[in-house]
Amino acid sequence: MGSRMLHGCANVACVGAKKRIAVIPGDGIGKEVIPQAVKVVEAAAAAVDFTSFDWGADRYLADEVTVPPDGFATLARNFDAILLGAFGDPRVPSNVHAREILLGMRVKMDLYANVRPVRLMDSSLCPLKNIEPKDLDFVVIRENTEGVYGDVGGVFKQGTPDEVAIQEDINTRKGVERIIRFAFDYCGSNKKLDGSPRRRVLMCDKSNAMTHAGGLWQRVFKEVAAEYPKIETQHMYVDALCMQMVREPCSLDVIVTNNMFGDIVSDLAAGLQGGLGMAASGNVHPGHTSMFEPVHGSAPPIAGKNVANPFGAILTAAMMLAHLGMASEAQKIDAAVLEAVRQQKSTSDIGGTLGTREAGEWVAREVSSR
Ligand code: NAD
Ligand code: IPM
Ligand code: MN
Repeated sequence: MGSRMLHGCANVACVGAKKRIAVIPGDGIGKEVIPQAVKVVEAAAAAVDFTSFDWGADRYLADEVTVPPDGFATLARNFDAILLGAFGDPRVPSNVHAREILLGMRVKMDLYANVRPVRLMDSSLCPLKNIEPKDLDFVVIRENTEGVYGDVGGVFKQGTPDEVAIQEDINTRKGVERIIRFAFDYCGSNKKLDGSPRRRVLMCDKSNAMTHAGGLWQRVFKEVAAEYPKIETQHMYVDALCMQMVREPCSLDVIVTNNMFGDIVSDLAAGLQGGLGMAASGNVHPGHTSMFEPVHGSAPPIAGKNVANPFGAILTAAMMLAHLGMASEAQKIDAAVLEAVRQQKSTSDIGGTLGTREAGEWVAREVSSR
């Protein structure tokens, strides 16, 4: 893998013109799927240099460190992108390390756009009837730094029958405007897989019940949309959108929504594309060091068994390469995963008989032969 394990924040020298990637596999199946993604990127001969970090539950249990001092600043300063696995371990019931590493990274590195593409590689993977790959090609753009994720609130009279718990939903003008603008820019500059242009941005909220936050999203959406007259706009309440995703997914194009609704609808969307093992994502701030991670979590019940699907992580690595300007390497990886899916050279969750490692190796070989 040509990488080193850094405990602290050592400086990493830039190797030629290679892009510097920080790899943080994390916990559970993150430690199994990320090495496969790294292997596939190496097979694509992408000009990258990997450096591994051991942030996660094992490290936290050993020395109580979640993010080392200056950790995020080091990532921003010394790396072009971050490839992340997943965080969550039953030995850390408070989940403090996951909050500080994952949510901390999103907020403190200001990675405000969580981009979650939804695509169907083969009809057999979709639980819906009569859906072809061309019918499922949309993207969820999730606000990634605000909403109910800010941990703002508190409890009052805890442990009594009168207990009160308050979880605030933070929506700033700046935060709402930049994610909506990101969605319009994404729509204007990204094509569908069949080469046709993206045409429509759908804003999803719950403004019929959550009037204050929803009102801000509604006003800003209309204002920003006026700057993009060629892009169609649409609005749906989140409950109606969930139904639409199941009933008529081909009507969807670019969806922009808040942090929590984006979390929920992206797992529903993952279900449409073959499950969490197939879903990729990027946590992006244009011009900043951005982070790429599969949508799935650490899946403790299947961890360590060599059964987790590595394709979500591999497709995530391809997304990272495309973001770094290595479009041909990214396309090669996408095409190899597509071939693996078609030939069922995959794990059992999507119909194959291979283990995590063997599926990763198959894709790596396929990439090398292209
Ligand atoms: P999960 O994504 O880990 O698992 C949900 C279901 O999907 C399980 O049935 C699991 O076996 C299956 N699954 C997930 N990834 C798979 C893969 N690659 N191949 C095959 N099957 C796969 O979500 P969860 O069970 O709600 O959470 C488990 C832990 O992960 C929790 O601690 C949670 O907080 C954490 N989590 C972390 C992240 C992250 O770090 N990005 C994301 C989601 C959940
Ligand atoms: C995700 C995860 C995280 C989130 C959890 C682990 C806090 O579900 O990346 O989708 O809710 O953002
Ligand atoms: Mn989630």
